Amino acid sequence: MTKVARTPLGIAGDPRAVGSAPPAPANGRPGEDTIAVQVQDLNLYYGERLIVAGVNLSINSHEITAVIGPSGSGKSTFIRSLNRMHELSPGQPRVTGTVRLGDWNLYAPATDPVQVRRRVGMVFQKPNPFPTMSIYDNVVAGLRLEGRLARSVLDEAVEGCLRQAALWDEVKDKLRQSGVALSGGQQQRLCIARAIAVKPDVILMDEPCSALDPIATLKVEDLMRELERDYTIIVVTHNMQQAARVSDRTAFFSLDERHQGILIEVGATREIFTNPRDQRTEDYITGRFG
Ligand SMILES: Nc1ncnc2c1ncn2[C@@H]1O[C@H](COP(=O)(O)OP(=O)(O)O)[C@@H](O)[C@H]1O
Ligand SMILES: [Mg+2]
Repeated sequence: MTKVARTPLGIAGDPRAVGSAPPAPANGRPGEDTIAVQVQDLNLYYGERLIVAGVNLSINSHEITAVIGPSGSGKSTFIRSLNRMHELSPGQPRVTGTVRLGDWNLYAPATDPVQVRRRVGMVFQKPNPFPTMSIYDNVVAGLRLEGRLARSVLDEAVEGCLRQAALWDEVKDKLRQSGVALSGGQQQRLCIARAIAVKPDVILMDEPCSALDPIATLKVEDLMRELERDYTIIVVTHNMQQAARVSDRTAFFSLDERHQGILIEVGATREIFTNPRDQRTEDYITGRFG
């Protein structure tokens, strides 16, 4: 509900008007092994403290990548760095290394973080519809920041995004009601509709189901599987079953002896859960640690 929650919608005008216009989308075709996001030698600091150290990771397009690991291993800081949202946290955040979306260096000096957050959207742990806005206005909040759009364009976007978020049938007769009057699971799907309304390439989700009941959780998981066709999804989850059910690849983070978050290994989810290469991964997924 704070400035952080509002930032994915902090969208500037025409991207061409910004110093570094983002290049063509990083997303290839579904089923193609295209790299959407390339992370190289990434170090994330708060003040002097190194929180996440030396991450190298490629995220494939049109896949769901799960990020798992013990509490405090820097999962949230890491995924928030993928759209430069962690920069809005207190504590003097600082970054070295690179994150690329396709050919676009998200941390280049000329890169506008507002554009980054447009291309890399975010869904939070606690559903956070804008409380003063209707369902309709929540969905198009980001689009409206791009300038005046005809009513028919907005109507179409609302229906399209709510359909894509598997929420349309439940809300089509009450679009003018407040977004916060919905159930938790519906609110989270509304937040997903809001995130996709600006047509990002990548959607980051930080424990998107941890505030939801099991049925609402399954609905969101089904939805993620649907969205994978159009988007690249990176999801932090502490729920091993969820990672196993929903993701194509899994990245396991842990803490090293200096209490820095490190990426231990990444691989096909099936491999990580049945045949991890690293003992620390095995200890975590079998519940011996974390
Ligand atoms: N704004 C901040 N300022 C200082 N330290 C922070 C800030 N946010 C997170 N941290 C620290 O970074 C570490 C990793 O946190 P986080 O990324 O939330 O881990 P996870 O999501 O894996 O639980 C923790 O030790 C946390 O205290
Ligand atoms: Mg976290």
